[in-house]
Amino acid sequence: MAESAGAAAETFAPPAAFAAAARVKNRKEYDELYRAAAANPAEFWAELARRELHWLQPFTQAREWNYPFVKWFLGGKINASDNCLDRHLTGPRKNKAAIIWEGENFEQRILTYQDLYRRVAKFANVLKAQGYKAGDRAIIYMPMVPEAAVAMLACARIGVIHSVVFAGFSAEALKTRIDDLGATLVITADAAQRRGREIPLKRNVDAALAECPAVRKCIVYRHKNAGIEMKPERDAWWEDLMFGASEVCPPEPLDSEHPLYVLYTSGTTGKPKGVVHATAGYLLETLMTMQWVFDIREDDTYWCTADIGWVTGHSYIVYGPLAAGATTLMYEGAPDWPEPDRFWRLIEKYRVNVFYTSPTAIRSFIRQGDKWPKRRDLSSLRLLGSVGEPINPAAWRWYNQVIGQNRCPIVDTWWQTETGAIMISPMPGAVAAKPGSATLPLPGIIPDVVDLKGEPVAAGQQGYLIIRQPWPAMFRTLYNDAERYRENYWAKVPNVYFTGDAARRDADGYYWVLGRVDDVINVSGHRLSTMEVESALVRHAAVAEAAAVGRPHDLKGQALVVFTVCKGGVPKSPELVEELRAWVGQEIGGFARPDEIRLVDALPKTRSGKIMRRLLRELVTADKVSGDTTTLEDYSVLLELAKTKGDEE
Ligand code: WTA
Repeated sequence: MAESAGAAAETFAPPAAFAAAARVKNRKEYDELYRAAAANPAEFWAELARRELHWLQPFTQAREWNYPFVKWFLGGKINASDNCLDRHLTGPRKNKAAIIWEGENFEQRILTYQDLYRRVAKFANVLKAQGYKAGDRAIIYMPMVPEAAVAMLACARIGVIHSVVFAGFSAEALKTRIDDLGATLVITADAAQRRGREIPLKRNVDAALAECPAVRKCIVYRHKNAGIEMKPERDAWWEDLMFGASEVCPPEPLDSEHPLYVLYTSGTTGKPKGVVHATAGYLLETLMTMQWVFDIREDDTYWCTADIGWVTGHSYIVYGPLAAGATTLMYEGAPDWPEPDRFWRLIEKYRVNVFYTSPTAIRSFIRQGDKWPKRRDLSSLRLLGSVGEPINPAAWRWYNQVIGQNRCPIVDTWWQTETGAIMISPMPGAVAAKPGSATLPLPGIIPDVVDLKGEPVAAGQQGYLIIRQPWPAMFRTLYNDAERYRENYWAKVPNVYFTGDAARRDADGYYWVLGRVDDVINVSGHRLSTMEVESALVRHAAVAEAAAVGRPHDLKGQALVVFTVCKGGVPKSPELVEELRAWVGQEIGGFARPDEIRLVDALPKTRSGKIMRRLLRELVTADKVSGDTTTLEDYSVLLELAKTKGDEE
């Protein structure tokens, strides 16, 4: 980021043709919108909520802010699936493609809004027939198939709170989430596919459910014809239950604040946090950002490459695009399968107009070479997006030139699982981009860069990124843990939302997000808690202690390095390193497998026994330690550590 983090950085004005057709056409319009919203955020959002959402009963109060708990649109009744489906059926969107799906083996399915509506209504009736009702909790552990969206929307239709668990998570991680949520239903598939290999989802579910007696029912979508075991009573095939289910299922009128879903994300302890999102506010802001940020058009084909298991998939594959009546493309499979041009091939085939991906993906495309995108026709693209981590200016420029062909604005969107929707991003027709900066906050969002006392720091200085006012898509709490919610997010800096990110604001007011300030690291855009990895390792019989840190990585943004102390008598060996890496994969999921494990004799600790991760971070980043070591208990430990070097993957 040092490359150009400042007011003087290179700027890219919105391309004139794009701006002329955009909803918000120039900087003046953005400034006016932003100012009007900031003057009275509650009223600003209320007006949009009345205009943009379909209410089953109008709300009577815009906001109740009872620090740090917020409620939006009180007194209203609403249903997310009604807003994503039913309201599109009376006009020309009825037969418009809602979801275009492509599988890794080039299978294709297109579901119109009418199709999707019918499936959701039927599946909602299936859930009702199984005795599920508003307030019950369901886990969705599915591949990237339209049925994942059907399951989410069917839950929403009857008020069942869903929690999607990324299909890359292990049985162990799945079990932890089922337990924490007190789920009584699991919706899954026989298997998923990735790089030609089948991932045995149902087998993972079986392993998890062996220890989750509260789960009464497991509904299995047949995706791959994988040979699986079905447990009588508990397990049922999706297709069997759907057969003959009624297509009539009126949307349940739910309170604006009814929890729509819980999504588990990594925090600074070993235990994942259940981020709770409420219905109306979340829906409003995912919809508004589809307009403001993606400037979505009736005839667009829109593609977000995230997985539905992460928040980006929730907000920008399912709820946002469908609430906007857009056509959303869903691809199950790897970007480089069967060849590194698969994404470009998809763009060419479906004439994708809006493309939203991650910096990690962009960096891997750069590495594979320009010949892959160059052999495909990308002329349909109108707008490009990036999310998940800071995008380095070099990757930004490549994205702009090679993919956008200098024609498409790039929206670098900063947000989090907790924020629910995009918070800081250029409005593409109005705000000039600076590569590496997420630019300016969206209307109704009031961020700042402050010190720990909450005082704004000077332009160009690094500080903590905070948000001053609650917004509609803000998470409401952590599931069953309001105390942790208060402590993690509302107590670090008094009276404001603490994002956990460091940032700088330049003289033009542009935000440059620099990365996490806590023990969360960002590997390929996936949030990982160092504590979670450490706890997984110490569950292994050979391990006494572990300390995980991130180190900068060209491709992944950050790589995970774990210093591991084995129990007495356990010999250090490359085999053990491999075994431990595989163990973490099994305990959490393949994406959490450490890049390096360094077997060491001791960890640097303070006199009070705290592991000094800061020193380890310096060690893996700079290969030496220059910071303050005066609180270190035994300096020789550090000297020994400096001699270790792991083998990179
Ligand atoms: C990081 C993903 C810089 C940041 C939507 C944040 C970013 C964390 C950006 C949230 C961006 C996300 N620029 N950093 N455009 N987008 N981040 O919860 O550190 O998986 O706190 O949500 O990713 O990750 P999460």
